[in-house]
Amino acid sequence: MARRKKPLLERVEITAIGAEGKALGRVDDMVVFVPMLVPGDIVDIQVTRKRKNYMEGYVVKHHKYSGMRQEPVCSHFGICGGCKWQHLPYEKQLEFKQQQVVDNFTRIGKFSFPEIRPIIGSDNEYHYRNKLEYTFSNRRWLTEEEIGSGNDISSRNALGFHVPGMFDRVVDVEKCYLQDDVSNKIRNGIKDYALRNNLEFYDSKEHKGYLRTLVIRTSSEGELMVVLNMAYEDKKKGEKLLKYIRDSFPEMTSLMYVINPKLNDTFNDLDVKLFYGRDHIIDRMGDLKFRIGPKSFFQTNTQQAQKLYSVARDFAGLTGSNIVYDLYTGTGTIANFIAGKSRKVIGLESVPEAITDARLNAQINGITNTEFFSGDIKDLVDNEFIESHGRPDVIITDPPRAGMHESVVRAIMKASPEILVYVSCNPATQARDIAILAGKYEVTAIQPVDMFPQTHHVENVTLLRRTT
Ligand SMILES: C[S@@+](CC[C@H](N)C(=O)[O-])C[C@H]1O[C@@H](n2cnc3c(N)ncnc32)[C@H](O)[C@@H]1O
Repeated sequence: MARRKKPLLERVEITAIGAEGKALGRVDDMVVFVPMLVPGDIVDIQVTRKRKNYMEGYVVKHHKYSGMRQEPVCSHFGICGGCKWQHLPYEKQLEFKQQQVVDNFTRIGKFSFPEIRPIIGSDNEYHYRNKLEYTFSNRRWLTEEEIGSGNDISSRNALGFHVPGMFDRVVDVEKCYLQDDVSNKIRNGIKDYALRNNLEFYDSKEHKGYLRTLVIRTSSEGELMVVLNMAYEDKKKGEKLLKYIRDSFPEMTSLMYVINPKLNDTFNDLDVKLFYGRDHIIDRMGDLKFRIGPKSFFQTNTQQAQKLYSVARDFAGLTGSNIVYDLYTGTGTIANFIAGKSRKVIGLESVPEAITDARLNAQINGITNTEFFSGDIKDLVDNEFIESHGRPDVIITDPPRAGMHESVVRAIMKASPEILVYVSCNPATQARDIAILAGKYEVTAIQPVDMFPQTHHVENVTLLRRTT
């Protein structure tokens, strides 16, 4: 049977930005989502997907560009998946993020809530990340102009970011605006060396090649870590390259490498070897120091993380005599951050290495009233745990995007803290979870925080108080 051709929609006005930052317009009571557009744009849209109450498509013709648009700063904008909102002024980005929280709380959560506080914006619109991971690839993304130019494009090596939705295509990054400029200097220097010395960039389809990924971590203390991933051990090539990196970038305080023969790029399960300097860097948040190893999770926007944690600490209303549980504690950042105002803080987290870091971070800061346990939260928090560690007066929870498992929500209700502070990077799952809690808790404050300018992501802190 012949497939029916999807419709072409003409002169559609984009009216809003919806869930997950997708721009949308309306045609005969149907919503149509199109990436990378801005309210006020008028476009023709080729529909690629049609469902009962929504469509998705791409732009085939622009009739009008919205007056809201601004010129993106980055030459890779539109191809690179990193900063999809550079064409929106920052104040508009904040407006849409605020609206995302309002929409999710209104539509998904059938509970009452007070007026949402104005989002806390980031002082830095760019250069705010303390970590970037670049990928080496021999399948560079080619622009249409490049293909049409007739120039020689036989060299397809690239070091940069994946094209969204294409695991094997990488944008060759010349300059990225998300991290301190030193990151560009180091990445471009290593790429030039690799090209000059004919080192093979990895082929993620064939699983061949030498150089795989490059992680650069910077810190507010001026320390800098480079972690280079190679697919196989080659003493001669490897040592020459690592020596070049060591001698070329004096800003670097830690140079580490991993031999990764696996099919994927993650190296959390592999041995990371030290070539030069220390095996960690130190970052600072307020009065606290954090020790960050090559595998450690640490919030990527340190300045905004401090603001986020301050909101969580204020919402918790700590008096110094509280027992606090910090669920999904990661490397114990929130737990250690609030320890000074608590009697005892218990941090729970599934990744054992993160728990090791959490304990170490408590130790280097002289904190003695935090305890950390690793395991799945849904198995950890039961009557026995609460009996042996004390009933929490306050629970702070910061789950991943998927939100909390329903059994964790039920366990929180059973533990019955007076105050629950819910930190979330996904207001949709947060609203879903709060809807379950609503019989026993009321929402008394909501504070969105922007951790990732130029993207649609929004962090949201909600304060819930027990009512029964
Ligand atoms: C959003 S991060 C929060 C990290 C930490 N609060 C911070 O600000 O640095 C979520 C954390 O939850 C952990 N996690 C995910 N699922 C889990 C589970 N089922 N049980 C325990 N921890 C889990 C992840 O490893 C991750 O460290």
